[in-house]
Amino acid sequence: MPITERRLSTAVLVIGTGGAGLRAAIELAEAGVDVIAVGKRPKEDTHTSLAAGGINAALATMDPEDSWQQHAADTLKESYLLADPRTVEIVTRGAALGIDDLERYGMAFAREEDGRISQRFFGAHTFRRTAFAGDYTGLEIQRTLVRRASRLEIPVLDNVYITRLLVHEGAVFGAYGFDLGDGTRHLIHADAVVLAAGGHTRIWRRTSSRRDENTGDSFRLAVEAGARLRDPELVQFHPSGILEPENAAGTLVSEAARGEGGILRNALGERYMSRYDPRRMELSTRDRVALASYTEIKEGRGTANGGVWLDVSHLPRRTIMQRLPRVYQTLLELQMLDITREPIEVAPTAHYSMGGVWVRPEDHSTDVRGLYAIGEASSGLHGANRLGGNSLIELLVYGRITGQAAAAHSASLTAQPRSVAAEALARAEVDELLRADGPENVRALQRAIRNTMTEHAGVVRDEQGLRAGLAELDTIEQRMENIGVHPDIAGFQDLAHAFDLKSAALAARATLEAALERRETRGCHNRSDFPDMDPAFHVNLVWSPTTGITHESIPPVADEIAALMADLSTEVSTEGKLVE
Ligand code: FUM
Repeated sequence: MPITERRLSTAVLVIGTGGAGLRAAIELAEAGVDVIAVGKRPKEDTHTSLAAGGINAALATMDPEDSWQQHAADTLKESYLLADPRTVEIVTRGAALGIDDLERYGMAFAREEDGRISQRFFGAHTFRRTAFAGDYTGLEIQRTLVRRASRLEIPVLDNVYITRLLVHEGAVFGAYGFDLGDGTRHLIHADAVVLAAGGHTRIWRRTSSRRDENTGDSFRLAVEAGARLRDPELVQFHPSGILEPENAAGTLVSEAARGEGGILRNALGERYMSRYDPRRMELSTRDRVALASYTEIKEGRGTANGGVWLDVSHLPRRTIMQRLPRVYQTLLELQMLDITREPIEVAPTAHYSMGGVWVRPEDHSTDVRGLYAIGEASSGLHGANRLGGNSLIELLVYGRITGQAAAAHSASLTAQPRSVAAEALARAEVDELLRADGPENVRALQRAIRNTMTEHAGVVRDEQGLRAGLAELDTIEQRMENIGVHPDIAGFQDLAHAFDLKSAALAARATLEAALERRETRGCHNRSDFPDMDPAFHVNLVWSPTTGITHESIPPVADEIAALMADLSTEVSTEGKLVE
């Protein structure tokens, strides 16, 4: 049992040390503001390092006609009009500066022979605007940010698990947590907190997140602090996750594989995208490609394992080695499969939380004073379908903006009231879990939530299934009253799993309730009982456990951008979208 409690204090605490958190921390340190960053994983190996194919900015290095306005139009159109136009403008306008920042920190982008940053096609972009570093773009960005943070001597605490935000009278004043190795408690006082701890896609069984990533921590921390969630039901299923081995099911095969010319076929050998989006084929939007694969599998044209084939074996070996090296290595490592010769068996995988903590577009502040959320923890950019490559650029743009906003908030405080009661509550919560010795196994309950979400809230949903999912969740939550938590000589992972479980349950409830409320089909959200898009749901759904769901209107798109949203003025075509 830990007997020590480490007390720290800083101007700004950043929770999460992936791309978003580090970029915010760098902004603060560059401005001379005191900052501490904490993360539950080692900073070199955060989820950002898995991001593969690229990062978007209308640099026009390959297609001179490109512009930030066209990037904004593509993003809004493919969000099925649920993205916030203000957020979209901020990201697309600021994207080039985000890339400049990375170059300034020494990022090695792939380049053309004449030195221009190379840009490739990603699904549903009008032009080539995805910059990359092979298919290790996220890894290279993470390394670049880690290097920069270290040069700035930013204190980064790895392996610290944050259990609760500390709040007094609607304002955050720090966070509580523990060290995953030896259990040492951490009481961290801060003027402002930036929450950058990812999304909730690990609550599905097949997911591109690793075991303890994206477990819904940000959602729970924010909601318990008094913030709300926006559109938790909008979860992107990426078309290509591998099926085997079981313990790596869902691992991503980057969209870069299709961007470079990969072809999808069903078990009959048919290039089935011609039935769903004959114009864009494999480079259609992710929601359409995922639904197409799902439909092929459901209708019996999938492989015996319940997948489809993604084939790059016709591409020149050099293209695969230079532009898809991670896909090549991953398949060799996990399946001993040589993708230069054989197709890859894939199926949709839970990939990205497009909804998240409710934030204001201008600075990503939340309902709680002094609390900000960024990256996959936040919401507003992606709506009902995220364009591949937009998440990485968001980290860069909002990392800078949120860092500045948190610094300004800190500077504006003349005093900061704290609450001993809030600290005691956080301490007691950990104590109570450490005493828990019930018969229910935490990992088994996590698995039960993943089964429920996979069964009832996957690519296609309906009312009956969602209600069944909520009933199952009620039972799981009752079982959670009787868990046993057993940290051992190896560390305090079991305690972390118990908190992950709480987060997963909250994230699952928010998702199921919002999915039930959204009685329409839009983007990633396919309701087989409401197969059409409904203008009444051209709103964001905002959720909290106390107020339930409210409908939030979305500001209009500026004329300049609307004019670039081809074949679309106020409606998005659902042509090519099938719901079983
Ligand atoms: O497929 C991919 O490389 C994923 C990119 C993204 O999600 O932005």
